[in-house]
Amino acid sequence: MNSKNARLPSFEAHASRLSSTHLRQLLADEARGDRLRTRVGPVWLDLSRQKLDVAALDAVGEYLQSTHWQAARDAMFAGEHINTSEDRAVLHTALRAGQSRHPRAPAEVRQEIEATLQRMGHIVDAVHRGEGESVGLIPQVTDVVNIGIGGSDLGPRLAVHALEQFHVKGLRSHFLTNVDGQAAYNLMNQLDPRRTLVILVSKTFTTQETLLNGGVFLDWIVRAHDGNKAAASKHFLAVSSNVDAAEKWGVPAAQVLPMWDFVGGRYSLWSAVGASIAFSVGMDRFRELLAGAAEADDHFLTAEWNKNGPVLLAIAEMWNRNVLKRTSRAVVPYVDALVDLPSYLQQLEMESLGKHVHPTGGHVEDSTVPVVWGSIGTNAQHAYFQALHQGTDVVPLEFIGIVKPAHPLAKNHAALLSNLLAQAAALALGKTFDEALAEAKTGTEEQRRALAEQRTFEGDRPSTVLMLDSLTPRSLGALIALYEHKVFLLGHLWRINAFDQWGVELGKAIASQILPSLDADPDTLTQFDSATVELIRTIQSRK
Ligand code: F6P
Repeated sequence: MNSKNARLPSFEAHASRLSSTHLRQLLADEARGDRLRTRVGPVWLDLSRQKLDVAALDAVGEYLQSTHWQAARDAMFAGEHINTSEDRAVLHTALRAGQSRHPRAPAEVRQEIEATLQRMGHIVDAVHRGEGESVGLIPQVTDVVNIGIGGSDLGPRLAVHALEQFHVKGLRSHFLTNVDGQAAYNLMNQLDPRRTLVILVSKTFTTQETLLNGGVFLDWIVRAHDGNKAAASKHFLAVSSNVDAAEKWGVPAAQVLPMWDFVGGRYSLWSAVGASIAFSVGMDRFRELLAGAAEADDHFLTAEWNKNGPVLLAIAEMWNRNVLKRTSRAVVPYVDALVDLPSYLQQLEMESLGKHVHPTGGHVEDSTVPVVWGSIGTNAQHAYFQALHQGTDVVPLEFIGIVKPAHPLAKNHAALLSNLLAQAAALALGKTFDEALAEAKTGTEEQRRALAEQRTFEGDRPSTVLMLDSLTPRSLGALIALYEHKVFLLGHLWRINAFDQWGVELGKAIASQILPSLDADPDTLTQFDSATVELIRTIQSRK
């Protein structure tokens, strides 16, 4: 991690120069544009609409170099315990090291990972051949239900939905996440319990939502087998680093796939946590996903800072957050299949970087993670883009597009792409008052000017475009790994631990105190604050 608790430089001279330089002017400098574009395998990154000129970029780059980020990166890849609050290595890159040209993880770790991938492949292939019995499962599976939450849901869900065009025929995938019983109830009503395979995914195997939903599905399947628990257990796989707990829960040992303490939940889709991805697209495609991520890893390890995708993404984010003081970033994929990307990134970025204390103690002085939000375009254009173009707050955007679609509807794709390009251009260039005035043809001079003011776009609103050649396991793997490495770099720059998540614990602890109190006499609930007690009273009175 970056040296002890030093603040980021303010880059004031650059910020003040750029405050009076419109993106229109910056975009006219082609040499600058070249500096802000790079390729990472199948992903083209265009950061030329960020509010940095070459001098500012070089100043930030020089600062970054002075922080020895390469040494920090190498320490992560080598398996040093950089997650200090949990005394753990951070080795999600080892999960795809088998496909890397520069594998850095310890050999025994890589062997264990490969052995698990082979076990997973064996199970997935058997199910696909309709021979589940050979691996202790039911013979015929029509539906796979992934029960998990957070990192045990968002990554697999993103990939399964993104790769729909590669889905193996005859096997449907479902994700059950929330403890809201309606979701479990609705899903059970759709499925045949005798043909359903459940994957219980929980790194800790202590997560309330997952264990509760797992129990609901177990009861449902046991009932379908007239109370025969041994028959029901053939419907379950588990993925966990707490293998004992999964076995105690009732999943036979041969059906429990391990993951490891050195992989954080939100970084785990590359492990057996991604079993639902492998069931959906097959093991070969799953390995292509790993290969795409490994390609991004190799790029991160070898590219100079000024052509390094994650570095450029981190610089832009730091600039927007710490220099321009932007409080959120919108992620807008112009690809329906990437509908889950914003929520995936919310966990990856906000759970990793939503910290305000240094690992060595002391409150951070720089702002850390912005709010990450977004949804697919063009739909977003017809919802909140008004505010992005003309609202009082500037929100940097990330546009994600694909060059070649998987469908033959060329006109649709051209319309989709032209909208993406147009939004990025409009946000940056805007429309001047004079241009708007020239368009206002009717009314008095005063009315024309008032209308023109409302129809003026200040522009100067930054965005990044990430363009995938096409949406494949490889390009998706590379895209996600780019974001992972950006997060690593921001953790380094902000001098916070991007790999723990203590902030989720307090609410969990209070929920476990409230749960048994929901039916108690509110007058006896002295351990809770008055608002909680009143809400319990209201719930009880309206039941
Ligand atoms: O509550 C947050 C969290 O711990 C995430 O970090 C994690 O991805 C999620 O819960 C699920 O945890 P598990 O995989 O242990 O069930």
